[in-house]
Amino acid sequence: MSPTPSPYGLRPAHPEDRLLLSRFLNNTAYSHRHLDWREPLEWLGRQPFVILEKNHEVQAILSCPAEPQEVGWVRIFAAGGNLSPAWAWNMLFERALSTLSAAPVKPTLVSLSLQDWYTDMLLANRFTHHQDIVVLAYDDPPPAVLQLGDGLVVREMHTPDLPAVVAVDNLAFESIWRMSEDDITRAYEKSTHKTVALLDDQIVGYQMSALSGFSAHLARLAVSPAFQHRRIGYRLLQELLEHFINLQGTWGVTLNTQDTNYASLALYQKVGFRLTGERFPVFVHPY
Ligand SMILES: CC(C)(COP(=O)(O)OP(=O)(O)OC[C@H]1O[C@@H](n2cnc3c(N)ncnc32)[C@H](O)[C@@H]1OP(=O)(O)O)[C@@H](O)C(=O)NCCC(=O)NCCS
Repeated sequence: MSPTPSPYGLRPAHPEDRLLLSRFLNNTAYSHRHLDWREPLEWLGRQPFVILEKNHEVQAILSCPAEPQEVGWVRIFAAGGNLSPAWAWNMLFERALSTLSAAPVKPTLVSLSLQDWYTDMLLANRFTHHQDIVVLAYDDPPPAVLQLGDGLVVREMHTPDLPAVVAVDNLAFESIWRMSEDDITRAYEKSTHKTVALLDDQIVGYQMSALSGFSAHLARLAVSPAFQHRRIGYRLLQELLEHFINLQGTWGVTLNTQDTNYASLALYQKVGFRLTGERFPVFVHPY
């Protein structure tokens, strides 16, 4: 007698699955979504994006494509209520790992966690804690203007600035936090206030932030390493606080950084941002 075939199967997701998956995502019992510039289904067409099906019905999905090519963040994991999320994760994850391992540049596999069940599942699957994301908030009048070096100009960022902004970003951030040109372009389009700092017409720093309801969020700040410690970061922050608090009348500004990023924590606290106490762990997988 031949064995009964398993009703479960794995397959890559494709752009044509968008409607099917958007219906599935409306009804999931477990869902982890990365804090991302793209909606989860905007990753369709990029691999690994794996679907677990039972009798051709979607049961769970996992997407962790590399972007930029050195880092693959878990962009979405979602499972329906009819099966254990840990079991679904194991099925999907093995397939995703074999795709990542076959890439010409093997990316670091990373995940943020916003929920305890997801943290427990990552820890049970060989992920190790890398650092925490911490949240800071500012709700005072803008800080004092500090004495700055000669010739620093802060002006609005424009589309032709983006290649120079990507270059600053990639020099300033550790590899897992670097953004691709595509991600920087999306961040630029979604930000309501974005500025660059120039010395001798060269872009040496930038920030991007966005108004959201009554407050604003600083999404990105970086100063090129060769130009750090000249109060360029301070000047970018001070200008954005003036913009949001004095001109836009916002109640405050929030931001996230890593608990191990001592330079940024020192800068933000010097300006007057305070830690809110919220923190979210980041995990790395040693495959
Ligand atoms: C964080 C960062 C933007 C700071 O930019 P910067 O232009 O060098 O900072 P500033 O010169 O304006 O520093 C202002 C104050 O912040 C503090 N500070 C900044 N860098 C510091 C460091 N490495 N160590 C200790 N304190 C520091 C100091 O109090 C400093 O005041 P001072 O000038 O009176 O000493 C820069 O280090 C960077 O781009 N890092 C990588 C990207 C990043 O982490 N971005 C933020 C995370 S979301």
